[in-house]
Amino acid sequence: GNLPIGIHDLSLATTQYVLMYEALAAQNGTSVAKYHWGIGQRSMSVPAADEDIVTMAAQAAAPVVARHGADRIRTVVFATETSVDQSKAAGIYVHSLLGLPSAARVVELKQACYSGTAALQFAIGLVHRDPSQQVLVIASDVSRYELGTAGEATQGAAAVAMLVGADPALVRIEEQSGMFTADIMDFWRPNYLTTALVDGRESISAYLQAVEGAWKDYTERGGRALDEFSAFCYHQPFTKMAYKAHRQLLQHCGHAAAEAEITRAIGHTTAYNAEIGNSYTASMYVGLAALLDHADDLTGQAIGFLSYGSGSVAEFFAGTVVPGYRAQLRSEAHREAIGRRKEIDYAKYRELHEWSFPADGGEHPVPRETAGPYRLAGLFGHKRVYAAR
Ligand code: CAA
Repeated sequence: GNLPIGIHDLSLATTQYVLMYEALAAQNGTSVAKYHWGIGQRSMSVPAADEDIVTMAAQAAAPVVARHGADRIRTVVFATETSVDQSKAAGIYVHSLLGLPSAARVVELKQACYSGTAALQFAIGLVHRDPSQQVLVIASDVSRYELGTAGEATQGAAAVAMLVGADPALVRIEEQSGMFTADIMDFWRPNYLTTALVDGRESISAYLQAVEGAWKDYTERGGRALDEFSAFCYHQPFTKMAYKAHRQLLQHCGHAAAEAEITRAIGHTTAYNAEIGNSYTASMYVGLAALLDHADDLTGQAIGFLSYGSGSVAEFFAGTVVPGYRAQLRSEAHREAIGRRKEIDYAKYRELHEWSFPADGGEHPVPRETAGPYRLAGLFGHKRVYAAR
C-alpha cells in the first residue's frame, strides 16, 4: 500500500550505574586497549538492584506517552530476551505504570536480539489494518554473562520505546524485507541459567553469514541497491561488530571496503552503544537514535537496518527519514540519560552481578537506589511490585 507507516517517536533509557573498562581491565589483567579499540567500547551500563527491563522500558516510554497521549495506543509489544517472568508479559507492568488504556492488547516477543524488529514489523502490520491506531513498541534488555568469561566485556543494558503509526514523524519503514533463519547454537540461555552462554567466534561468523543471507533475500525481493543508502544501522553487541558486518556486506557486493567509507556509513550509529554496551533487542534502535541525533540533516535519505538475533534470525530492511524529523528528536534527553549514570567500582559491579532474589516466596523489598522515575520495589510472595518515584 501507499500509506506511509513507521516510527513516529523514539526514546531511550538506560541504567543508574556505569562500569568503566579501566575497572574491568584492572581486575582481569586485560589491556584496556582491547576494550577501547579491539571491541570498540568505552563503558557498560549496569542496572541498580531496583532497576530491570520493566523500569527501563517505562522510563523510555513515559516521554513518548506524555508527548502523544495514549488514546490511540491499542497495542503494546514488548521485545526482550531477558524476561522477568515465564508467563506474564513485562509490558503489562509498563501498561500499568504509564496508565495506558485498558482497551489495549499487550504481548511479549522473544527471538534473542532480533525480536525488537519482529515487534516493529508486527506493529506496522497492525497499523496497516487500522491506520487510526498507534502501537507502542518497546525493546528492553539487560545483557549478562558469567563473571570472568570473554562475554563479560560485552554486557550492558538499555530500553528503547517507539511509537509506530501512519504518517510517521521520524522514519518511514519500507515494505521490502530480507529474511534469514538458521538453526545454530552461537548464543543461548537455558531456562535454568541467569547468564547467557555463547561461543564467541561462532557467534561472530554466524552474524556475518546472516548479514549475507538477509541481504541476498532483500535484493532478490527488489530492494534498494547498496549505494542508495546513506547510513546503516546494525545490531551492535559491541560497536566493532558493526564495522565487521558492514565490511562483510561491502565485500559480498563486490565493493572495495575502504575504512573511511565504512566509518561514514555507520560511525554515528555507534555513539550511544559504545557507552551503553550490548542492549540486545534495543541495540539496533539505540543505534538509530544515535544516528538521528548526531548526523547532519538526513531528510529524505535511506537508512539500511540489519537486525540479528542469535540462534539465529536476521532481517534487512530500509527506512527513509521524514522531513521535519529534527524537531521531534530527543537528543538532549538521550545524552542526559547516558551522562547522568554514576560510575561504580568493580566491587559494587560484582555485588550487583551476583545479587538475585531468594526463590522462597518471602517478602523481599529492594532498597531505593535508582534516580529514575520508576523502580522495582521488591518481590513479595513471588510477585514483583513496581512503583513510580
Ligand atoms: N589492543 C587492540 N585490540 C586488541 C587488543 C589490544 N591490546 N587485544 C585484542 N584486541 C582485539 C583483537 O584483535 C580482536 O579484534 P578482531 O576481532 O578484529 O580480530 C578484538 O580485540 C577482540 O579480541 P578477542 O577476539 O581475543 O576477544 P575475546 O576472545 O575476549 O572475545 C568476543 C571477544 C567474542 C566479542 C566476546 O566478548 C564474546 O563472546 N562476547 C559475547 C558474544 C557476542 O557479542 N557476539 C557477537 C555476535 S552474536 C550477536 O550479535 C548477538 C548478541 O547480541 C550476543
